[in-house]
Amino acid sequence: KNGLQVAIDGPASAGKSTVAKLVAKQFHYVYCDTGAMYRAITLKAIRTGVSFDDLAGIAKIVKSSKMTFEPSDDGQKVFIDGKEITEAIRQEDVTNSVSAVAAIGEVRKQLSAQQQEIAKDGGIVMDGRDIGTSVLPDAEVKIFLIASVEERAQRRYKENIQKGINTPLDELQMEIEARDYKDSHRKISPLTKAADAVEIDTTSLSIDQVVEKIANVINKTL
Ligand code: C5P
Repeated sequence: KNGLQVAIDGPASAGKSTVAKLVAKQFHYVYCDTGAMYRAITLKAIRTGVSFDDLAGIAKIVKSSKMTFEPSDDGQKVFIDGKEITEAIRQEDVTNSVSAVAAIGEVRKQLSAQQQEIAKDGGIVMDGRDIGTSVLPDAEVKIFLIASVEERAQRRYKENIQKGINTPLDELQMEIEARDYKDSHRKISPLTKAADAVEIDTTSLSIDQVVEKIANVINKTL
């Protein structure tokens, strides 16, 4: 193996992708954003008019779509069937319906298998909801990132303003709570902290402080 498997899980907007990218950079590991994969399938369902309760239709999308990732300055570009969808998958329509698609067994089965393939040689930082519990149960490093819902809504609000999205703060907080509820209560691989994960509360920490804490865990394991 060329390095460890680092799993970073936690609720919505806890800062997973921001710190995961930086940790990957520091250790020269590959970064994999599994949420982007669930978002890509959701976007394609919306664009092709497939209803979220059409399980066969959704399963067909997962089987027939080709998702690709390309590193970029601020993380990665995401493509589905050759079309760039990096920004489209961050829009509110996708964000507010992705949990329904992510609850579908066939979707999880296919995407988890792809994620295991991506991670098999190690040297990977993978963020999501079920990486430490289900996708990579043997990952050498497991981190569970949390933060207060108020703080997470604030962070999402600031991110949105930069992207020109203007959803009110209280609405964002409700959306985050609703998404966490759905992700934590679904039948298949719900969001939970793995027994052997290191929990980090990022509420009053800077990005650099969180990265440093994770780097310390990795260095102790190496
Ligand atoms: O991390 P992000 O907010 O982009 O994830 C979007 C959604 O994808 C989550 O709310 C969840 O429903 C789903 N997801 C998942 N399992 C993962 C990663 C994301 O179910 N490993």
